[in-house]
Amino acid sequence: MTFDRSLKIAPSILSADFANFGAECRAIEAQGADWVHVDVMDGHFVPNLTFGPATCKAIRPHIKGVMDVHLMIAPVDAYIQAYADAGADVISAHLEAGPHIHRTLQAIRATGAKAGLALNPGTGIEAVEYLLDLTDLICVMTVNPGFGGQSFIHSQVEKVRKLRAMIGDRPIHIEIDGGVTPQTAPLVVAAGADVLVAGSAVFKGGSVDRPEVYGDNIRAIRASV
Ligand code: DX5
Ligand code: ZN
Repeated sequence: MTFDRSLKIAPSILSADFANFGAECRAIEAQGADWVHVDVMDGHFVPNLTFGPATCKAIRPHIKGVMDVHLMIAPVDAYIQAYADAGADVISAHLEAGPHIHRTLQAIRATGAKAGLALNPGTGIEAVEYLLDLTDLICVMTVNPGFGGQSFIHSQVEKVRKLRAMIGDRPIHIEIDGGVTPQTAPLVVAAGADVLVAGSAVFKGGSVDRPEVYGDNIRAIRASV
């Protein structure tokens, strides 16, 4: 996984058909997805529960590109190796998931996966100042984590701008997660984001039998920036 800051669209399978993840991953990649965003939720750190390492391992063969695993779980350290073994290319942990995020990022990197640092909307960027050298991606949540289809939190655009300035020319992706649409995407890309997660905006109106709708939705986001 080489670093470049070109725009990437990462559909979130949280909005996909839970009975058909393999076909859905193949469909969104065939329709132009750059990464596949996999939302792991434990019903503890967030008030929703999705799936675990076994599901990630099962869908891995159906993803040609980057499998971007977003861990909305606490505690997180005990599970990192399982997601690395499942084939995750990027493993993002929430800064808020425990007291030792510095150690968590070290543990993710030690598996060979890229280390992602996810920030809830209420968390300021001063929290990442001493973590930049351990981080390959910073996921700025633009909704409160737990569900797809929520409204974009506009206060986070300024956070992205400040984060971009703090990162400088370090090879760190800024990923936006939540409420990304053709209306909100331009705001965050102008502020410095390069990876856009989109669930409902990609999957709405489509299906594995109508995957061209996924392509139209992905193209609409890409064309908006
Ligand atoms: C929310 C997840 C997001 C979500 C995005 O907790 O982390 O990835 O699936 O869904 P949309 O794009 O519909 O807001
Ligand atoms: Zn996510």
